[in-house]
Amino acid sequence: MAQKISLTRYLVEQQRADGLIPGQLRLLLEVVARACKSISQAVNKGALGGVLGSAESENVQGEIQKKLDIIANEVLIEANEWGGHLAAMASEEMDSIHLVPNRYPQGEYLLLFDPLDGSSNIDVNVSIGTIFSVLRKPENGHGQGVQESDFLQAGSKQVAAGYCIYGPQTTLVLTVGNGVAMFTLDREQGSFMLTQEDIKIPADTKEFAINMSNMRHWDAPVKRYIDECLAGKEGPRGKDFNMRWIASMVADVHRILMRGGVFMYPWDKREPEKAGKLRLMYEANPMSWLVEQAGGAATNGRQRILDIAPTKLHERVAVVLGSKNEVERVTGYHDPL
Ligand code: AHG
Ligand code: MN
Ligand code: MN
Repeated sequence: MAQKISLTRYLVEQQRADGLIPGQLRLLLEVVARACKSISQAVNKGALGGVLGSAESENVQGEIQKKLDIIANEVLIEANEWGGHLAAMASEEMDSIHLVPNRYPQGEYLLLFDPLDGSSNIDVNVSIGTIFSVLRKPENGHGQGVQESDFLQAGSKQVAAGYCIYGPQTTLVLTVGNGVAMFTLDREQGSFMLTQEDIKIPADTKEFAINMSNMRHWDAPVKRYIDECLAGKEGPRGKDFNMRWIASMVADVHRILMRGGVFMYPWDKREPEKAGKLRLMYEANPMSWLVEQAGGAATNGRQRILDIAPTKLHERVAVVLGSKNEVERVTGYHDPL
């Protein structure tokens, strides 16, 4: 029987073989995985644990927070504060960056997260997740402690990225720049076990994911692409397409990593001053890197997402990601920059 490989063993082997993971980054990833296990427990208990429903507070983006948004945020902060691997954290649920308190040693890394992605699905028992992105703390040119500007690095600078999906199974999907690996939580063992390595997204697909109810607000290139998909066999694409929309980016991206597809959350006319709904630094960047590492592509319609130089922590971005040929087609329909 093939030997089972735990996340711990996988990380140790990556560290040895490729030197891709310094000790501190390995610890960081173990701690994030442990926090995700604990969030998974809370999600699993649901109403029995009193974790469902609204917290009746608002985050910096003006969204009403769910109890689980706050619980997941606290779990990630508490787990990551004391290990000595981090300098600071940033989250969808916190207005500004969170420094590691002075009483703990400071590490070399910055951690960004969307603690609970798919909040509208919490109370209806549909898959949700946690998304995370790891950057190196830049050499400190400003002579002060960590500042928000230290986080404003392009996605191409990430040293690790991943998500944990809380669905029928709890699954952690990870890249450290050496392909994409998937680990499934074995609840009896209490460990994440490697269940798929070198995940690849097929270049072609017949499946798209977009919130169709926003169609009337879209820009012409997105409307053209979707109209052509909807025209099916008789249309210019010459094939029928299927549609899926889970409303948890984690779950939509997970499906695309498993069997291909294209996911879009484009700019639209509802809030024209915003680039899109999704956040660059802790949603689009980590997911884009995972997708690229799996052979797919990710753009904002005009530019590779990982090349965007962020200007603020909670910056938003239009997102087109997934099967390479479809992403290139949508991007080709837009005017170049
Ligand atoms: P979050 O719950 O972290 O705010 O993110 C929700 C995001 C994303 O997960 C999903 O793809 C999208 O919002 C769903 O948007 P609609 O409500 O327009 O379907
Ligand atoms: Mn989210
Ligand atoms: Mn969220």
